[in-house]
Amino acid sequence: MTVQPRCFALLPCAGSGLRAGAGVPKQYRPVAGVPMVRHTLAAFAAVARIARVLVVLAPGDGALDVADAAVSIAHCGGATRAESVFNGLNALLAQGAAGYDWVLVHDAARCLVTQALIDALIDACLPDAVGGLLALPLADTLKQADGGGRAVATIDRAGKWLAQTPQMFRLGLLRDALAARAASGFAGITDEASAVEAAGYQPLLVRGSAHNLKVTYPEDFALAEAVLRSRHA
Ligand code: CTP
Ligand code: MG
Repeated sequence: MTVQPRCFALLPCAGSGLRAGAGVPKQYRPVAGVPMVRHTLAAFAAVARIARVLVVLAPGDGALDVADAAVSIAHCGGATRAESVFNGLNALLAQGAAGYDWVLVHDAARCLVTQALIDALIDACLPDAVGGLLALPLADTLKQADGGGRAVATIDRAGKWLAQTPQMFRLGLLRDALAARAASGFAGITDEASAVEAAGYQPLLVRGSAHNLKVTYPEDFALAEAVLRSRHA
């Protein structure tokens, strides 16, 4: 009997949102009347193939309650996003997930993700040996800056992609890839794919959407709100 791998989702939600400005961490700021992370959770709840969602919060963070039995919370956030993800993967394994199961890691702050985008990533990655990530081919001209804020070169944008999330890998492969970078404090690991690449694999690039933006700066809240409201108009 072959055991079918399950799909888990892991939402790193333990950042303090410094670039978004003062106040509560951005994941709890309201967007279209609801804390941002609730929009993210709703998108994952709509995907039937996801067995369970684990939200990684900072230790002591009591701001999120979830009634959904398919969603659990682990207070194991770390000093960096990579550390939060690494701790969350270990929590999933401790809770009974297997190394051959899939995990979709997704920024809580990328609250415009849709069921359709998540399904597209799963469809593309399930038959793949490595897994992959949503990403977009670079649309703008790319500049290399000097220390003084002046352009010193134009970098060929051909073949360059902007990484988004979710990023979907086998849980064991991703956990081991991150474990190999733990001693260096996860230096240079800004997403899951960068750890997987460092381990010698080539993640699949799956076309995402410009709407799947990460709310990062103060002006991004209005943009996210406009996109959400346009969907329900
Ligand atoms: N994150 C996390 N643990 C950290 C840092 C970030 O779980 N130590 C999460 C954030 O909550 C967010 C996602 O990783 O959902 C993407 O990170 P980012 O957009 O950089 O959020 P913050 O780190 O909170 O923001 P900033 O870098 O502006 O402080
Ligand atoms: Mg950050």
